Amino acid sequence: MGRPRGPLLWLLPLLAAACSGILVALYCSAARPYPGPRAGARNTTSSRGFFGHKASNAGMRKNPHCRRPLDLAIQRHPHFRALFDLSTPVLLSGGLFTQELWDSLSQHKAPYGWQGLSYQAINSTLSLLNSSESSQLFATSKKLLSSCIRCAVVGNGGILNGSRQGLNIDAHDYVFRLNGAVIKGFEKDVGNKTSFYGFTVNTMKNSLISYWNFGFTSVPQGPDLRYIFIPSDIRDYVMLRSAILGVPVPEGPDKGDSPGPTARTAAGPPYPSLRSPTCPTTPRAALSTSFVGPRPQTYFGPEASARKFKLLHPDFISYLRERFLKSKLINTNFGDLYMPSTGALMLLTALHTCDQVSAYGFITSNYWKFSDHYFERVKKPLIFYVNHDLSLEASLWRDLHKAGILQLYQR
Ligand SMILES: *[C@@H]1O[C@H](CO)[C@@H](O)[C@H](O)[C@H]1NC(C)=O
Ligand SMILES: *[C@@H]1O[C@H](CO)[C@@H](O)[C@H](O)[C@H]1NC(C)=O
Ligand SMILES: *[C@@H]1O[C@H](CO)[C@@H](O)[C@H](O)[C@H]1NC(C)=O
Ligand SMILES: *[C@@H]1O[C@H](CO)[C@@H](O)[C@H](O)[C@H]1NC(C)=O
Ligand SMILES: *[C@@H]1O[C@H](CO)[C@@H](O)[C@H](O)[C@H]1NC(C)=O
Repeated sequence: MGRPRGPLLWLLPLLAAACSGILVALYCSAARPYPGPRAGARNTTSSRGFFGHKASNAGMRKNPHCRRPLDLAIQRHPHFRALFDLSTPVLLSGGLFTQELWDSLSQHKAPYGWQGLSYQAINSTLSLLNSSESSQLFATSKKLLSSCIRCAVVGNGGILNGSRQGLNIDAHDYVFRLNGAVIKGFEKDVGNKTSFYGFTVNTMKNSLISYWNFGFTSVPQGPDLRYIFIPSDIRDYVMLRSAILGVPVPEGPDKGDSPGPTARTAAGPPYPSLRSPTCPTTPRAALSTSFVGPRPQTYFGPEASARKFKLLHPDFISYLRERFLKSKLINTNFGDLYMPSTGALMLLTALHTCDQVSAYGFITSNYWKFSDHYFERVKKPLIFYVNHDLSLEASLWRDLHKAGILQLYQR
């Protein structure tokens, strides 16, 4: 199982290692048992809001060229058949922005909604994502329409160290990566192709801070690469808008960053004074993510434009949480901090858009044999923080693998 072996748990959310937000004062503590796996994903009718619109993400999946299309495996499986709704919109684009959507999402906190965010901010970002490209993950091309879309999703787990999976990963039509995806020097294990890079602004910046010394000195860039914004906060909408327009971020914690095409190449991590925040053994001062680095940073390379960016639909994130990752943590004091991990969101995005999906570098039952990340030089144990439920994620990947819906790389 994907359970932590010992009772040692980190009860206060340690939001450092590219996982999530604002670092509150943190400490480590031995505590009550971690809630078990498979906490939720039972009531398939209780999620809200995403039955209304049918999107085009699943529009091109039925095709005869796939040897083992995942939608067939889903249909054959009594449990997963009831969980998957492949017509749920995965991406949010301008065309889906209606008063009704505003009314519904403004009742829920990010990442599940827009509570506390301004209509103007959402509208001005979404109106830039108003072409058909913004509503689909994959470019529509004749080749793709007639073939089987094979995707690899590459998590950053230590299981990839020494795996020699690089060629297998790159052989997929699309390769998804996320957060601190160090490539240089690890090509034999993780490949060198990136089609999609998924992140929240917070996890992206935390990755640049935490993994700078391991070689994560820039977000992957390239002419064919697309970015998947996970809207976990207002800053994601603000950064996205600035990236598309090629202007410095005008406000908020990222003020002054130049994410887009007008940015100069910058050297140094966004917050040069911070070192890799590994778990401390003593309380330590809060790192504030509102600290603004001395130089504006460039993140997304020279050709940033609306077509480079995709935005996950908040309703899709709710749907994933309700049906696949309904953790017991939701009903604890940490409920507001809980969300599926970036890796989980990317893997489930691929499962809702590709015809075949392989997962590399995701948590397996023998995770304790491996370092936290593949790029670490000294083995560092994976720690279960309360902002994610990695036990639940581990059992989900195991069950999806058993059901033939994904191929989980294990060793
Ligand atoms: C599932 O949720 C729906 C809507 O919230 C509710 O009406 C129904 O009773 C629930 N079913 C179960 C089995 O909990
Ligand atoms: C939404 O944004 C568009 C494009 O910037 C603008 O034309 C429109 O007036 C805005 N709508 C509202 C209600 O602010
Ligand atoms: C997107 O474009 C359509 C048609 O051009 C327009 O009606 C709609 O208001 C736009 N949406 C946004 C959010 O700008
Ligand atoms: C990726 O690796 C392949 C060989 O494995 C090589 O041919 C290709 O040039 C590399 N691409 C990049 C962008 O480094
Ligand atoms: C990575 O794998 C090598 C052997 O392939 C091993 O010697 C090394 O300790 C591993 N690194 C970590 C951080 O586990």
